[in-house]
Amino acid sequence: MSHWLVTGAAGFIGANFVRLAAAAGGPRLVVLDALTYAGNLENIADLVADGRVEFHRGDICDEPLVTGLFARYRFDRVVHFAAESHVDRSILGAGPFVRTNVHGTAVLLDAARACWKAQTGDPLFLHVSTDEVFGSLEPGEAPFTEDSPYRPNSPYSASKAAADHLVRAWQHTHGLPAIISNCSNNYGPWQFPEKLIPLMILNAIDGRELPVYGDGMQVRDWLHVEDHCTALLAMLERGQPGRTYVVGGNCERANIDIIRRIASEVDALLGKPAGSAAKFIRHVADRPGHDRRYAMNAAVLRRELGWQPRHDLEGALPSVVRWYWENREWAARIRSGAYREYYEKQYGARA
Ligand code: NAD
Ligand code: DAU
Repeated sequence: MSHWLVTGAAGFIGANFVRLAAAAGGPRLVVLDALTYAGNLENIADLVADGRVEFHRGDICDEPLVTGLFARYRFDRVVHFAAESHVDRSILGAGPFVRTNVHGTAVLLDAARACWKAQTGDPLFLHVSTDEVFGSLEPGEAPFTEDSPYRPNSPYSASKAAADHLVRAWQHTHGLPAIISNCSNNYGPWQFPEKLIPLMILNAIDGRELPVYGDGMQVRDWLHVEDHCTALLAMLERGQPGRTYVVGGNCERANIDIIRRIASEVDALLGKPAGSAAKFIRHVADRPGHDRRYAMNAAVLRRELGWQPRHDLEGALPSVVRWYWENREWAARIRSGAYREYYEKQYGARA
């Protein structure tokens, strides 16, 4: 039987991924997640309870643990999501980013290499990375492609870029079969509410300030998380080892437009007069080194692997807003303790 190691699947994208992979059936899904502040077993509790996913709490930097899992399951696929993922936190302190994103990736690569030396078949290491490794685009500049040069600007993106380079090096030097996926900004259910979209939805629901960094004209290319996950499944099934694939929603929006849109969706959901939530929009100090624009050209993925996104942002946003409303208890449980301390440090206000 095929066994997949999925790292970081108690987080946002990994949780959505194992849901989709479990629904498709087939491989045995083994999750390794340290349950950091961003990891939440609740996100996949139903899958763990009914045995569709086997969960191991542990750190990807823990070499004996990782090698032990490889020895036990002889994984034929690794889907590597585990990371420190929030840019603002990487500005407050880069240590955990270097440790998990760089060292942790090296530990996984070594364990896979050692295991796969003695294994037949077609194993594959799928490294889940980000568009941020390519830096920032000027207005009017062509979107990033698989050939864009690396120009990471934040400690987060630098640590992800380092991890991408390690994957390339293990592929090149050791012949490790690997694919790198560089994806744009995701939105959807189970996203930790420090990220723009869930933060704005929950703050608008609670009548709290909606903090816009700088002028709010920074552009991101938004992709529904389910479409990111189908792209990853296509790479796992039909992708070519040694390749990079760029993933994006062809959906460039300025932050301020997204925030206004969310505010009006929340008004509609709560039956409030138009403009109620938008009154809480506040321009605050900009993020240091803030990347101005990201955009991805996913033509290769579409052409070669037949991938198509199913969702568009405007169509999907009402159901995403509703999801956070219906799951506000889930969010309330997260938005306590350590989250409050972070929020005060980041925004100088009470969560
Ligand atoms: P997330 O922060 O929601 O989840 C990260 C998960 O990794 C958490 O469950 C956490 O507990 C786990 N983790 C962290 N350190 C660990 C360690 N040392 N050992 C084991 N587990 C650990 O992140 P996300 O938004 O789901 O992103 C997942 C991956 O996708 C990341 O690699 C990120 O760089 C990449 N990515 C994210 C986006 C996005 O828009 N969110 C876009 C492109 C790529
Ligand atoms: O592009 C892919 C990346 O997208 C992923 O690699 C990262 O893991 C993920 O966190 C995300 O990074 P961003 O920095 O783009 O996402 P974030 O949600 O933090 O911010 C989105 C934009 O909104 C960004 O321009 C900063 C802005 N912003 C964010 C917050 C939290 C605000 O204006 N106010 C806020 O309070």
